Amino acid sequence: MSTFKAWVVDKGEGGQSLSFRDFDEADLMDGDVTVRVTHSTLNYKDGLAMTGKSPVVRRFPMIPGIDFAGVVESSGHPEYEPGDAVVLTGWGVGETHLGAYAERARVKGDWLVPLPGGLSPAQAMAIGTAGYTAMLCLMALDHHGARPDQGPAIVTGASGGVGSVAVALLARAGWHVIASTGRDGEADYLRGLGAAEILDRAELSGPPKPLAKERWAAGIDAVGSTTLANVLAMTRADGAVAACGLAQGMDLPTSVAPFILRGVSLLGINSVTTPQPKRREAWARLARELDLGKLAAMTTTVRLPDVAGLAEEILAGRTRGRTVVEVG
Ligand SMILES: NC(=O)c1ccc[n+]([C@@H]2O[C@H](COP(=O)([O-])OP(=O)(O)OC[C@H]3O[C@@H](n4cnc5c(N)ncnc54)[C@H](OP(=O)(O)O)[C@@H]3O)[C@@H](O)[C@H]2O)c1
Repeated sequence: MSTFKAWVVDKGEGGQSLSFRDFDEADLMDGDVTVRVTHSTLNYKDGLAMTGKSPVVRRFPMIPGIDFAGVVESSGHPEYEPGDAVVLTGWGVGETHLGAYAERARVKGDWLVPLPGGLSPAQAMAIGTAGYTAMLCLMALDHHGARPDQGPAIVTGASGGVGSVAVALLARAGWHVIASTGRDGEADYLRGLGAAEILDRAELSGPPKPLAKERWAAGIDAVGSTTLANVLAMTRADGAVAACGLAQGMDLPTSVAPFILRGVSLLGINSVTTPQPKRREAWARLARELDLGKLAAMTTTVRLPDVAGLAEEILAGRTRGRTVVEVG
């Protein structure tokens, strides 16, 4: 019997529980590629999975962790062979399929992407699901035809994982970036990533009007709820907002006014089941366009046994930027 160390979410009569324990390799789920996980990360959804605050785990026992970088140990997939460096985000890993906070993972080869050239496994996970989602947001804005000469771009939840990468990517692409944050102390951090202006998130927290003064041409929103409703009401005519998150809430108390009176577009982003060609394009662009110095500045590293201690912290919006989890 071969075992490895893993965080495991179990469900009993008292509800969900989390423990760091030995896991039997024979209990890994079906898949044609087995990976020695070297790095994972902390995402908002991992906080939800570990605390049980939202029912994202839909199979028990579950190893949480929605993304990893690692080295292929064995493969029945034509594209991968032992020794290949790979990256995985999404596909229900850490929710319905045993996940990344473990020394081993077995997944479908079709879910993997090769480690992008120019990135180390640790850098790929410093980007992780959050950074890859920020790139999907930028790609959606590009596809819409949004351009920096049309006006500023707002990023909400700017000090968080998606937000930090979004600020760096938009600034690199030439946008005048307005970073919205609830944390006074993070202004210098956000300016260092490329933000031109800092906006107190309280300005986006009031009851949304159908329309308000036009302030930006584009946006990347990781927060949802009242914040997104205010962002839409303040978006310039024919502007676009890419929405990917719900850190404030799942609701959206808006009206059709921004859409029918200003032609504003709301672009939905789902990173979990993105098809392979778009996934690979996003990773290739990240490897080319994300400033690795800025990536390092937004990254903190923890060891696998310590990640559970951060679950409540990320849900409370107290973690900054990205957190890499060293597994190997
Ligand atoms: N659609 C997808 O495929 C996809 C992929 C990845 C992530 N997401 C979602 O994107 C969101 C962000 O993920 P993340 O990993 O970047 O999380 P994160 O690091 O915790 O960042 C979220 C940020 O939102 C802000 N925030 C938190 N609570 C808030 C509240 N009550 N009101 C207003 N702002 C609040 C905070 O930024 P400030 O302190 O700077 O204000 C916080 O740092 C999550 O909802 C996550 O589930 C979705």
